[in-house]
Amino acid sequence: MTAAVLTISDSTHRGERKDLSGPAVVALLKKKGFQVVTAGVVSDDQPKIEHALRRLAAGAQLVVTTGGTGIAARDVTPEATRAVCERVIEGLAERMRAQGARQTKFAALSRGVCGTLGQSLIVNLPGNPKAAKESLAAVLGLVPHALDLLAGKTGH
Ligand code: MTE
Repeated sequence: MTAAVLTISDSTHRGERKDLSGPAVVALLKKKGFQVVTAGVVSDDQPKIEHALRRLAAGAQLVVTTGGTGIAARDVTPEATRAVCERVIEGLAERMRAQGARQTKFAALSRGVCGTLGQSLIVNLPGNPKAAKESLAAVLGLVPHALDLLAGKTGH
């Protein structure tokens, strides 16, 4: 299974903040057997995020974003993800928030979205490295089956 990771952060894009969540997500994906084909950083600009999501989904089965899911003025990752996805999978995001709520009540402040674009799955994670890892871990076990279904392997 191939994966792409996109860190969405103005400060990281400007070089003012080190990207900790992107590498943490890459490490977890590799540990779980994914081939991470690309990892990049983009600012919190909706058109740029949409463009990056389309490009990454064309080259990877799983596209994982980190950051920009909250309610600050520049947080537009969910809007960009909804704009490019053909179908939204509410249950995956619900599961991430439900698992997150066991760690912190603030998990409810992530508006992260999960959805499909072609045969790819896009998953929004919060920007904090610990939050990103916890959220990804909450859904990773469902991803192989989801990718099978998107690839038309429905014979189960
Ligand atoms: N989810 C988990 N599992 N753990 C956390 O610490 N932090 C929350 C939430 N989700 C958190 C979490 C907080 S404080 C915020 S503001 C939102 O994610 C949005 O984060 P983002 O804007 O960096 O994406």
